[in-house]
Amino acid sequence: MIRFLMNDREVCLDHCAPDMTVLEYLRTKAEQRGTKEGCASGDCGACTVVIAEAVGNRLQYRNVNSCITLLGSLHGKQLVTVEHLKLQGALHPVQQAMVDLHGSQCGFCTPGFIMSMFALYKSCELPSRADVEQALAGNLCRCTGYRPIIDAALSLAGKGSQDAFSAQEAVIYSRLTKMVQQSPQASMQDGLHQFLIPRNSDELLALLTQHPNAKLVAGGTDFALSITQQLQQPEVVIYTGRVVELLQIEESEESISIGAAVSYTDMQSLLHKHFVSFAEMLERLGSLQVRNQGTLGGNIANASPIGDTPPVLLALDAILHVRSPAGRESLPIREFFTGYRQTKLPPSGFIETIEIPLQPERILNVYKISKRLDDDISAVCAAFSIELQDGVVRHARLGFGGMAATPARALNAEQALKDQPFTEQGIKAAQQALAQDFSPIDDVRASGAYRLQVAQNLLLRAVLEQANPSDEALEVVQYA
Ligand SMILES: Cc1cc2nc3c(=O)[nH]c(=O)nc-3n(C[C@H](O)[C@H](O)[C@H](O)COP(=O)(O)OP(=O)(O)OC[C@H]3O[C@@H](n4cnc5c(N)ncnc54)[C@H](O)[C@@H]3O)c2cc1C
Ligand code: FES
Ligand code: FES
Repeated sequence: MIRFLMNDREVCLDHCAPDMTVLEYLRTKAEQRGTKEGCASGDCGACTVVIAEAVGNRLQYRNVNSCITLLGSLHGKQLVTVEHLKLQGALHPVQQAMVDLHGSQCGFCTPGFIMSMFALYKSCELPSRADVEQALAGNLCRCTGYRPIIDAALSLAGKGSQDAFSAQEAVIYSRLTKMVQQSPQASMQDGLHQFLIPRNSDELLALLTQHPNAKLVAGGTDFALSITQQLQQPEVVIYTGRVVELLQIEESEESISIGAAVSYTDMQSLLHKHFVSFAEMLERLGSLQVRNQGTLGGNIANASPIGDTPPVLLALDAILHVRSPAGRESLPIREFFTGYRQTKLPPSGFIETIEIPLQPERILNVYKISKRLDDDISAVCAAFSIELQDGVVRHARLGFGGMAATPARALNAEQALKDQPFTEQGIKAAQQALAQDFSPIDDVRASGAYRLQVAQNLLLRAVLEQANPSDEALEVVQYA
């Protein structure tokens, strides 16, 4: 049985299709149709809901896209929908602000905006304009336009986040924790189909051994599309979001280790501490709704040639700690991708953690080239980890996405950089060598010729940034 709070009512589900999304549940079973369906693929934000979880000693509120969130993943959490915001009869402050500042016309997008603003209201008392833009970048509005909506969100800054939800926080917290304690073995099924929720790595391994064809799901931001877009019906789904070993973050002098099921949002501050340009690029991976759910494990295992984190992990020489019925092994990420969407993951295996060595002598530059700044897939993603001695390259690892059938290192260009001055002249051979490393394809995002030229130009950009880090001409200006 899975148990969760639907607003303030407890729901216990035993017999339910494991591939049911939260949006489908809300609109067809729970008859709560304030939450809208736009794209059904995580892009528009019309279906945004908020999930509250007991973390530390309080509730953590995060906005997610209900169309790509599987219902079973709600076990032990509170699902807050737009209907619940008028908790004590009056409009919630975020709703009132949208009314006062004329943030809605047709209103189709409005419930989603309200829920993203609500999550921001509950997690940040004094949001800056940048915080507001981050919070709303995953919500599309076609008629009102963003100015009044952003004004509404900004009008709440500094007004405190004490609302009817704060008054109920302790009660909800204790109901959620009791629910998990009382139902540690959670699952749901529907005839032949099952949704299973292991609690630790041993249980996960046992389930994968028992069900060799099971599909693993972490944040579901890739996986759910196989259900909503390709209409697949997996027989057994195993959710990693409660596997304790996969949720850990560890930091030592030599490396950081990130559990495969840690969300992007949860790893952000650690990455900011050690790899600023990696953290900054992640702020452009999907939208906040996607980053609140998406994980490194999912991005790596998905093995997309245009995934954003593999190029960075290649440049950083990351190591994947993998477990399978054959035991535990450490796989350098450079050996992991074997062909288009093919990896070395063993049968019934899973990634437990991703270890990134800390090498402060190396400079890391990460670039994401896409048509839009926010919530867009890369045409090219590049990550350069470079060690300089007296201006000369002693070590170079260049990781690329969008240039080949897999995320890949540019081995010829790396060789060409070695022992050369890191200057416009010194990188010329490496720029040429990129054409030996890659023959990128034409597709909807970019032509092959554009991709190659961008890759070459990004090397030059890294040189210019190194020479003059505060050059404003090199800044990417958002919402100019
Ligand atoms: C609107 C939208 C925008 C997006 N934008 C971007 C973007 O800008 N850049 C980008 O790179 N991606 C983007 N994505 C794709 C996706 O968000 C990422 O790939 C994300 O990291 C996937 O993580 P997840 O936890 O959601 O994976 P899931 O969907 O849960 O899983 C993905 C795959 O990985 C497997 N898997 C998950 N965990 C493990 C594990 N521990 N061991 C082995 N296999 C595992 C699953 O079985 C599945 O095959 C976007 C997706 C959406 C819907
Ligand atoms: S319906 Fe568009 S993001 Fe869910
Ligand atoms: S008010 Fe119509 S889409 Fe936003």
